[in-house]
Amino acid sequence: MLASMNARLSSLRLVLAGLLAGAGLLAGCSKQAAPTASNPPAAQPPSASTKMKLGFLVKQPEAPWFQQEWKGAEAAAAKYGAELIKIGVPDGKQALSAIASLAAAGAQGFVICTPDVRLGPAIVAQAAKGGLKVITVDDRFVGADGKPLVEVPYFGLAAAKIGRLAGVIMYAEMLRRGWDPAETAACVVTFDELDTARERTDGIAAALKGAGFPADRIFTAPQKTADLPGGRDAANALLVQHAGIKHWLVAGMNDSAVLGAVRATEGRGFPAADVIGVGINGTDCVDEFRQAAPTGFHGSIFVSAPQHGFRTTEMLYRWVKEGVVPPPDTRTEGQVITRENFAAVLKADGIL
Ligand code: GLA
Repeated sequence: MLASMNARLSSLRLVLAGLLAGAGLLAGCSKQAAPTASNPPAAQPPSASTKMKLGFLVKQPEAPWFQQEWKGAEAAAAKYGAELIKIGVPDGKQALSAIASLAAAGAQGFVICTPDVRLGPAIVAQAAKGGLKVITVDDRFVGADGKPLVEVPYFGLAAAKIGRLAGVIMYAEMLRRGWDPAETAACVVTFDELDTARERTDGIAAALKGAGFPADRIFTAPQKTADLPGGRDAANALLVQHAGIKHWLVAGMNDSAVLGAVRATEGRGFPAADVIGVGINGTDCVDEFRQAAPTGFHGSIFVSAPQHGFRTTEMLYRWVKEGVVPPPDTRTEGQVITRENFAAVLKADGIL
């Protein structure tokens, strides 16, 4: 009896000793050695609360150009471990309130394609109030004097050059089709309140004239809204005024303007073979190029929207993190696309 009690007691002692040893081990584990150079703290993925927050505000969130720009911005944010806050700002009121909510959320800066370039000074003031850094993409702010706000870093198209390229392409295609210039006119949809748009359409007209196209048959049609219906309405008004033209060259500030104008030529009975439309962007004409039969939309000058998003977000991150002030004015170049090569070019850029 006594012997069996002793045996039970000693086995209890063993269990207890084991438990205590385990507890000691655990206690040792919970004690953290102070990090030193030879014993650095384990790398921690940034948690939601410690991540840098950056905004990316665009005027037309539904447009493929801006969706691709956001995609590029997301890639940069992921690369640098920042949190991207994307907000569509179709009007001034929404732009200003988006900036206030970015500040409230603890963001440190934002990239913006403003719905109205004249809002520049108000946007800069609102950003300063929230301690936010600002970079403009695509559409450059203008001050009360109508001049660009050069103190805000800008990232956009080499607009005049890209416009000239569109003009050269249209002219070359006209020659290839053997059109008689005497029976041809150009319809250039304009949006002069936006510098980047005016520089593009001026470039188109300059290239046509430079190539020898008759200056008195380059007609401009101002669009009231910078979208497809705006381009269509502008071109419709112009086509009505110029009856008797057999072939049309069609251009504008971007794909949407030209798509709208091409729709207008179709509505007035021009077959695709009598229309050469060349857009700019290359992102907003994918469905058009995918149509089974060619339309009057011949080509576009492709510019990388994902690069615009990536590079501006990267610049903003480095500005906040390392104090690297972005260059005041960065311009990107374009590349010609048509039905033949658009899929390969857009695939190479990660768009398709
Ligand atoms: C403007 C246009 C867009 C696109 C960008 C490119 O914002 O509205 O469609 O062309 O410029 O910078």
